[in-house]
Amino acid sequence: MSLDAGKIKGIAFDAYGTLFNIASIDFLLEQLFDDRARQVAAYWRRKQLEYTWLRTMMGRYKDFYELTRDALYYALEATNTSATEGQVQELMQQYYHLDAYSEVKGALARLKGRYRLAILSNANPSLLERAAAYNGLDELLDEIISADQIRQYKPAPGVYQLAEKGLKLPAENLLFVSSNTWDVSGATAYGLQTAWVQRGYSTMEHLEVAPAVTASNLEELAELLMS
Ligand code: LAC
Repeated sequence: MSLDAGKIKGIAFDAYGTLFNIASIDFLLEQLFDDRARQVAAYWRRKQLEYTWLRTMMGRYKDFYELTRDALYYALEATNTSATEGQVQELMQQYYHLDAYSEVKGALARLKGRYRLAILSNANPSLLERAAAYNGLDELLDEIISADQIRQYKPAPGVYQLAEKGLKLPAENLLFVSSNTWDVSGATAYGLQTAWVQRGYSTMEHLEVAPAVTASNLEELAELLMS
């Protein structure tokens, strides 16, 4: 399906990897764990995702902050890395002030005039609100919508449905934007128009659903949506 830009009235953005750069944590990981840092980071990210999917399938919800801490404990154990409880807390605190990608604020400011804007994320509201405020995005967003409302994680269809409720627009008037291929697939399967932000090299899933549009960053997407 190709993009039907004329229908779009609201845009919902995924948070991590799309608005906020989780590589902002890498500096602290390197300070703490030196040559183990890359391995810890890779395990941590992979397990964080897996725990959202596993917990949704198992019907055992735990909020995103806590699940992310569990994933960190797993990553430390899997890589045989020791860390104090203080260091774990310090790493977790980074989630409250992740840097937004450099073009994000400008792109949202541009889109704001014409579209209603939201975050639609697996993260719990306090994480999203603080990270948005830290980057000055709070005043540009109409809504911050969290999967926590239904205690299930993306790509469960009910989470994408929250975009319709939160922005008070039907699916056909919504664009969902994510850099995460599995997330783009989930939202497309639900029935939203989707944009894939392909930051760097990554491969689209083979799940028989394709994004309506692909852009290399949000500035490029904004250009397309404002033309
Ligand atoms: C989120 C993760 C998937 O923000 O990036 O929901």
